[in-house]
Amino acid sequence: MSEPVTYRLEGRIALVTIDNQPVNALSHAVREGLDGAITRFAGDDAAEALLLTGAGRVFLGGADITEFGKPPRAPSLPDVITAIEGLEKPVIAAIHGVALGGGLEVALGAHYRLAMPGTSLGLPEVKLGILPGAGGTQRAPRLVGVAAALDMITSGTPIGPEKALEIGLIDRIGSGDDPAAAGLAYAEELLAAGAQARPVGALPMPQDAPELFEARRAALEKSARGEIAPLTALDAVRAATRLPIGEGLEEERRLFQQLLDSPQRAGMIHAFFNDRKVAKLPEIAGVAPRDFASVGVIGGGTMGAGIATAALLAGLRVSLVERDADAAERARATIEKNLAAAVKRGKLGQERRDAILSGALDCVTGYEVLGGADVIIEAVFESMDVKKEVFAQIDRVARPGTVLATNTSYLDINEIARATSRPQDVIGLHFFSPAHVMKLLEIVVAGKTAPEVTATAFALGKALGKTCVRAGVCDGFIGNRILSHYRAAADHMVLDGASPYQIDAALRDFGFPMGPYQVADLAGLDIGYMTRQRKADQRHERDRYPGWADTLYEMGRLGQKSGRGYYIYDEQSPRGRLDPEVEEIIAAEREAQGIRPRDFTDEEIVERYMAAMVNEGARVVDEGIAQRPLDVDVTLLYGYGFPRHRGGPMHYADTAGLGVIRDRIQRYAGGDDHFWQVAPLLARLADDQSTFASLNG
Ligand code: COA
Repeated sequence: MSEPVTYRLEGRIALVTIDNQPVNALSHAVREGLDGAITRFAGDDAAEALLLTGAGRVFLGGADITEFGKPPRAPSLPDVITAIEGLEKPVIAAIHGVALGGGLEVALGAHYRLAMPGTSLGLPEVKLGILPGAGGTQRAPRLVGVAAALDMITSGTPIGPEKALEIGLIDRIGSGDDPAAAGLAYAEELLAAGAQARPVGALPMPQDAPELFEARRAALEKSARGEIAPLTALDAVRAATRLPIGEGLEEERRLFQQLLDSPQRAGMIHAFFNDRKVAKLPEIAGVAPRDFASVGVIGGGTMGAGIATAALLAGLRVSLVERDADAAERARATIEKNLAAAVKRGKLGQERRDAILSGALDCVTGYEVLGGADVIIEAVFESMDVKKEVFAQIDRVARPGTVLATNTSYLDINEIARATSRPQDVIGLHFFSPAHVMKLLEIVVAGKTAPEVTATAFALGKALGKTCVRAGVCDGFIGNRILSHYRAAADHMVLDGASPYQIDAALRDFGFPMGPYQVADLAGLDIGYMTRQRKADQRHERDRYPGWADTLYEMGRLGQKSGRGYYIYDEQSPRGRLDPEVEEIIAAEREAQGIRPRDFTDEEIVERYMAAMVNEGARVVDEGIAQRPLDVDVTLLYGYGFPRHRGGPMHYADTAGLGVIRDRIQRYAGGDDHFWQVAPLLARLADDQSTFASLNG
C-alpha cells in the first residue's frame, strides 16, 4: 500500500499530503505518517513553512470512525495536533471539500487556514454521540469566541467558507480549483510578509458568558432531548473559559472518554454506518438505474401533492393527473403551498420556485400525458379495485421501460402488478406523509420486479433526498407492520390499567418525540378506526380489542384535526392537554371486558413496548420482508421517531441482550400467550448467544 502521508519540498515549503481514500480519515497509519512528517519538517533546514493538504475530493473527513470503541493506538490525534501546533515554523492548512471533526481539529492545530470555495467546515461529533476530542472544544472558542464555537460544536452543523471567514475560523478563501496551488501561493505570501508560527492554543482564554451557557443548556435540553453528547460538549467549551490550554485539553479528553464509553455513542455510530449500508444491496450491485427526468403522479391529495413537491424540489419535471379540472386545480394549489413553505424554510429560492411553477409542473386530467414520464407514481385511494383500474390505464399509456410505482401502504403489490402486462416494471414506493418532508421511503420489491427497476427506485429516492429501505410485500411492509404490533402492546397496557398519558410520557422519556397516543391524535383517529374495520375479518378470537378507541372515534374525537382525541387541543393548550373524560371512557371499557386495572411502572411500559417492537422486527427479518436487522433499525429511525442515540430497535435489543428480551416475552406470555410468542429468529439468536448485528453483514 502506498504511504498515506507524503512529504515533498516545493521550493522552501514542505508540502505534506494526506491520502487515505475515500475521505482521508485520520486512521492510525495517517497519524503515524503525520508524526513522521512533523519530525522531518522540524529538522529540515530547507523547509521554512509546512503546508497541509488532503488528496482526492476532501481535505480530511475526520477521525477514523471504525476505530471508535477499539483499544487506542499511539500516536493519538490530540498529541499529533499539539505537535503540529508546537512547530516553530509556520504551518498552513489548505482545506477543500470537507474538514470535519478531527479534520477541522487538525486545521485548528495549524497556524493559518485557507479554505477553497464550497468547502464544508464542521465539528459534527455530537451527531456520533461524542465531542470534538482533539482540541476542538478548546481551540475553537479561543479562535472564534464562545458563542460561535457553541453553535458549531453543540449543533454539529457544518458551515461554509464565507461564514468561517466572517467568524475568524479561517484566514482566507482560496481561488482556483487546486487547493495545493492556492495553499502554496498563500504560504509564499505569508513567508514574504515574515509571518511566524501562530498557535491557536496560545490565544487568550475566551471570556466566560454564564448567561449564554445557561440559555444554550436550556435550549439543548429541549432540542436534543435525552442526548448526553451536546450537553457534555457544552461543558467542555465552558472549560475553555476557565482553564489554560493544557489543562483544558485534559478536561476535554476526560469528557470525550466518558462519551466514547457510553451506549449512546455506540447507538449513533451504528446509525451512521447503517445510513450508508442500507442502500447497499447485492441484488442491485452493479445494476445501472434507468434514466429519470420526468415523473408522473396520479392523484393530487395530500400524498400525491407531497410526492410531486418532493420531485419538483429535486429538479424533476412533474405531470400530475387528477380526476377533473377542479381536483387538478386543488392539487396545484397544495403544491404551491408546499413550495411556499419550502421558500419560507430557506429550502428553496424564490426564483427557482417561480421557474418550477412556470416550467416544471403540469396538473392535468387525462392519462395521455403520462406517456412522456420516466417514472409514474400512483397515489390514489387505498382500494385494490381502484388501484387495479389505475394500473390497467397506466399500462395502456406508459411507454416501454417506464417504472410503474404504487404508493400503497399495505395492499398486495403482486396483485397490482398483475393488472399490467409488465409486472417486471412495477414496484412499491411507500412515502410517509408529508412526503416532501419525511425522510423515509420504503421501496417495496414485488415478486417479479426487475433489479433495474429496484435500482432506479433507489436512485430516484436518493435524488429526492430520502433514506431508502428495501422491503418485501406483506400487510404494512416493514414499518407499519411493526407499528401495528407495538401499538397493540400499548393498547393492551391501557386495557390492563396504564393511562395513555403515562405511556406517552414514558416513551418520550425513552427518547421518542411523541408517544403512540399523541401520534394517533396527529394522524387522526379515523385512520386507526379504518384499519381496525379493514382487518375485522382477520381478527383472532383471542386478540384483545381496544374498544375505547372505537368509542372515541364514534364521538367524533378524531385527534388534532377535531380539537379532541386522546388530548384536548385548543388555545389554552395548542399542543394538547390531558382529558379526564378519556380516562373514564377507558375505565368503562375495562369494566365491560371484566378487567381489574393494575399499575404499571414507566420501566415496564418501555420494556413491553420495546419487546413487541423487537419481536415483530425479528419476524419481519425472518420472513425476508426486511433483508437485515439494520433495515428495521433505519425504518424505525427515519419513519417512526425512534431515538437515534439508541441506534434502532434491533440495536437496542442487542444492547439489552437477546436472552433478556426473550425472557421478558416468555414472562409476558404468562398473561397472554396468544400475543406474546417469541419470534423464531429471536429464539434462535438468543439460544446461540448471538446478536442481530451478526446478520447485518
Ligand atoms: N471514518 C471512517 N470511515 C468514514 C468516515 C470516517 N470519519 N467518514 C466516511 N467514512 C466512510 C463511509 O462509511 C463510506 O464507507 P463505504 O464506502 O464503505 O460505505 C465512505 O467513507 C464514503 O463516505 P460517504 O459518506 O458515503 O461519502 P460522502 O462523499 O457522501 O460524504 C463525508 C463524505 C466525509 C462528508 C461523510 O462521509 C461524513 O460526514 N463522514 C463523517 C464525518 C464525521 O462525522 N467526522 C467526525 C469524526 S470525528
